Amino acid sequence: MRKKVAIANWKMNKTRREAGQFCQQLNQVAAELTGVEVIVCPPYTALDLLAEQFSGTSIHWGGQNCFWEEKGAYTGEISPWMLRDLGCQYVIIGHSERRQIIGETDRDINRKMAAALQAGLIPILCVGETLQEREDQLAKEVVRRQLEQGLTDLELDAEGLVIAYEPIWAIGTGVNASSDDAQEMIGFIRDYLAAQVGQAVAGDIPILYGGSVREDNITDFMAKPDIDGALIGGASLDVNAFAAIARSIADA
Ligand code: PGA
Repeated sequence: MRKKVAIANWKMNKTRREAGQFCQQLNQVAAELTGVEVIVCPPYTALDLLAEQFSGTSIHWGGQNCFWEEKGAYTGEISPWMLRDLGCQYVIIGHSERRQIIGETDRDINRKMAAALQAGLIPILCVGETLQEREDQLAKEVVRRQLEQGLTDLELDAEGLVIAYEPIWAIGTGVNASSDDAQEMIGFIRDYLAAQVGQAVAGDIPILYGGSVREDNITDFMAKPDIDGALIGGASLDVNAFAAIARSIADA
């Protein structure tokens, strides 16, 4: 049985004080969130605080990015081993904002994936097409390339990987993909993985949808056979909204 997953991606939001308030409030409802792996990915500056607040609870925390080297002269970078040192179990890799704004390539992402796995983290690999690519009927081709190149030479097992399908046109726009379109692409991703690692392993890899997920649309996504949860940006900044979404994922 593959696990259900709810990930809060705060992006570049929340001071430590705001992060602390969120953690306290989430801890109050954590007991209700069984049957779903709840993961909060804050900016690096709040990771130690999450480690303090969530240690010994059912809530996990992770980075939003990492570098591919363990240590050295890489000013401004953070290694996956450093994230492990802060108790992270997860790290988001290849988010479209990093691909588009920072210019990360599939090759960079592959190196980060390899380093994260080596450090003992579970990478959350993000893939997804632009609106233009979708309109040009290239969405599957793009996602296939991102998977192929992002996962090159990696040993994959179901416990050590999460995939998030996030169509770029749906991120932060309020315009979510339809649950049918999300299912179609996520089914395609699962078939792709099955061809690489076999049906049994691919069947157990959590594959999430991301892009304008809210309390009022999560149930539709969760009704689809291949969608195992969500990567939540904007709505994850509000603890009540995030907890409600996580609860809907658990109940699905
Ligand atoms: P959003 O962001 O929920 O604000 O659309 C999702 C993401 O970027 O992970």
